[in-house]
Amino acid sequence: MEKRPVVLVVMDGMGLAETHLGNAVQQAHKPTLDFLYASCPHTRLRAHGLAVGLPTDGDMGNSEVGHNAIGCGQIYSQGAKLVNENIDSGEIFNSKAWRELVDFCKDGHKMHFIGLLSDGNVHSHINHLKALIKQAKAEGIHEVRVHALLDGRDVPDTSALTYVDDIENFMGELNDDTFHACIASGGGRMQITMDRYEADWSMVEKGWRIHVQGEGRQFASATEAIETYRKELGVIDQDLPGFVVAKDGQPVGTIDDGDSVILFNFRGDRAQEISRAFDGDASFDKFDRVKVPNVKFAGMLQYDADLQIPKMYLTEPPKIKYTLTEELCKHGIREYAISETQKYGHVTYFWNGNRSEKFDENLETYVEIKSDVVPFEQRPWMKSAEITDELCAAIESGKYDFLRTNYPNGDMVGHTGSLTSTIIGVESVDLGLQRVMESVKKVNGVLLITADHGNADEMYQAPKEGQPLKAKTSHTLNRVPFIVYNAKCKLKTDDNLGLSNIAATVADFLGIEPNEHWNESLLK
Ligand code: 3PG
Ligand code: CO
Repeated sequence: MEKRPVVLVVMDGMGLAETHLGNAVQQAHKPTLDFLYASCPHTRLRAHGLAVGLPTDGDMGNSEVGHNAIGCGQIYSQGAKLVNENIDSGEIFNSKAWRELVDFCKDGHKMHFIGLLSDGNVHSHINHLKALIKQAKAEGIHEVRVHALLDGRDVPDTSALTYVDDIENFMGELNDDTFHACIASGGGRMQITMDRYEADWSMVEKGWRIHVQGEGRQFASATEAIETYRKELGVIDQDLPGFVVAKDGQPVGTIDDGDSVILFNFRGDRAQEISRAFDGDASFDKFDRVKVPNVKFAGMLQYDADLQIPKMYLTEPPKIKYTLTEELCKHGIREYAISETQKYGHVTYFWNGNRSEKFDENLETYVEIKSDVVPFEQRPWMKSAEITDELCAAIESGKYDFLRTNYPNGDMVGHTGSLTSTIIGVESVDLGLQRVMESVKKVNGVLLITADHGNADEMYQAPKEGQPLKAKTSHTLNRVPFIVYNAKCKLKTDDNLGLSNIAATVADFLGIEPNEHWNESLLK
């Protein structure tokens, strides 16, 4: 069935849940989606767990694995799983990077671990950190420092102390006359270090000052910092400001010449900027690093193989092949990808198997709309209107055969935990969709609508008897929709279908043969 152009909309974080309570998707006024469900072919897809290459079906989906699966039509073992395997087999400790870093800091210097301290399994896992610290001691390293980024975004919103206690108890048991490990600095992941897609380099600069130079508000411990900031500011973990752990006014773990540094996050979007700061030569100009210590730096994974970020890494990333973009380029299909900064790399870098380079400069057009740097619960519509303006013009221009976008609202606003704002976010997406439908109708193309994982569909944590409802900021395990507008077709409804079935479906609509490595099309 050939029908062009094909337009694919990813409604980030807008999954399908039965419950109405706390379901921002259901509660939103969304005439467009209601119309689409009532009158167009649609089905449900898996977007979590094994269906997207995560270790278990208990793992919620996320944008990296979701966009990877949509963009390559296959299921690859993802970072979370690859690191587990690498640690279980012990291979990680034979890697060139681990060996070099151990040798570098062994004699009287420190080994630092920077990363997201939780078991969210989206960017990192605390068990990976534990394995690295334990082995550091076994290798004869004397001093370990942890720079703990507090989560509250992939895990409950005020759970930081659970993980701080856990890692401190773990380190306490290892500490003895020859070995000393402790938390040296940290802060909320949305305040320091973990910016993505260059939305706000000042976050990375703040992280650099805190982790490397030990410049920031001082506390006797991470716990004291968290408790004090909570009392003073009343914010959730992801928004806690940076802190430095100090004794007698001296930071306990600055990053100095001769030290080794490991970024233990496996996911790339929020790991690249800090990696570039450590790896970058004198031409690095994103912020003034003041003094760049002579350290060896490695990432848990290589986050971008084309750009070699970072140069050294402990685990080989999945080598994602036969991507949809590559295949479409071979057929001369003209492609267009657009989103705002917060999700721009999702429809380009993640979409193309974690590569930021284009396959074919002549066939691919990428457009980024600059995101506002604001708390998104204050602007839940984000840049949905601007994305829609550009996308509709591109659809109607006749210049492209395949267009894709990501509306971030359901996810980015969903992560704030504000139900009211998330409902408005969903409504903004609905309004955008209506305009996209009109453009698609005008040129008689086909519109495919899906989501990469759930988030806005569950804005409350599971209720506990007799306790008030608590906001939920993380993703969900729910299925996501797949809707076809303006094409008569029948869709498969098997329970095991997932995001990796979309690539072949796009190829079918474009009238080209799906790549033999892809999972089956959703068209009957
Ligand atoms: C984030 O990085 O914001 C969250 O950990 C995951 O969100 P995403 O997978 O939707 O980007
Ligand atoms: Co998200």
